[in-house]
Amino acid sequence: MKLAVAGGTGLTGAHLVDVARARGHDVVILSRRTGVELLSGAGLAGRLDGVDAVIDVTNVTTNKPDVSVSFFAGATKSLLAAERAARVPHHLALTIVRADAAPDGYYAGKLVQERLIAGGDVPWTVLRATQFHEYAALLFHRGRAGAHIAPRGRVQPVAAREVAVHLVDLAEGTPQGRALEFGGPREEDLSDMVRRYARAIGYRGPLPTVNAPGAWGHALRRGALLPGPAAVRGEQTFLEWLDALPDA
Ligand SMILES: NC(=O)c1ccc[n+]([C@@H]2O[C@H](COP(=O)([O-])OP(=O)(O)OC[C@H]3O[C@@H](n4cnc5c(N)ncnc54)[C@H](OP(=O)(O)O)[C@@H]3O)[C@@H](O)[C@H]2O)c1
Repeated sequence: MKLAVAGGTGLTGAHLVDVARARGHDVVILSRRTGVELLSGAGLAGRLDGVDAVIDVTNVTTNKPDVSVSFFAGATKSLLAAERAARVPHHLALTIVRADAAPDGYYAGKLVQERLIAGGDVPWTVLRATQFHEYAALLFHRGRAGAHIAPRGRVQPVAAREVAVHLVDLAEGTPQGRALEFGGPREEDLSDMVRRYARAIGYRGPLPTVNAPGAWGHALRRGALLPGPAAVRGEQTFLEWLDALPDA
């Protein structure tokens, strides 16, 4: 198959490209580093010729709803328009389990992305995944030296690599609409994950456990972001992921 990976230079995208190529697929990477600016659509013309499926794992790092909505709406509209023009038969995107259950600026963009895809005319599959194991690292490194925090929360983290494998499986199949949720093998406490990650990379400074603010923090603590019972489960636990870290 010929697959296009939008965001193929990112965390999930790099795994996707690796998995897809290892299975013998021809892969086109769409990102600014490969000359494609998805908000304007610049550089997209001709890139989707002969593509069987586009997998969108682009991202913007923000908590601001206007920034998130304009990024995910802009990128999704550019991709869908180019797919229609090139007659691509399958659009896939990665979003977040229960993004609609926890009010959050970033999630606002993910929900708009889902609505645009479902309301468009390119056959689609949307996979909602839980937080990655890497989320613990992201949260830790967001804090500046001496200001690191470990927010409490109930999560069921999953390996980004396993999400990528699952996305390639879905791309090899027919469009499903909303796919079953994809989550990790077991529930973890987010503050414990951040703490263990910090220890694994040798951090010995202060790391207070805090309640994340607002409605999102409350939703996180009461488990609103956990996947439902029908979710497909990955295999690698957070501790296994941590053990495999090069720094650990
Ligand atoms: N992290 C999690 O815990 C988690 C959980 C569930 C779902 N997800 C979803 O997974 C997706 C991927 O997340 P990630 O953490 O793997 O992303 P990431 O590492 O931040 O990578 C983002 C990618 O988007 C590309 N990109 C950004 N702006 C672009 C633009 N204007 N035009 C073209 N390409 C652009 C970047 O490439 P260039 O810089 O080269 O442009 C990069 O390849 C996100 O949609 C996220 O919502 C994440």
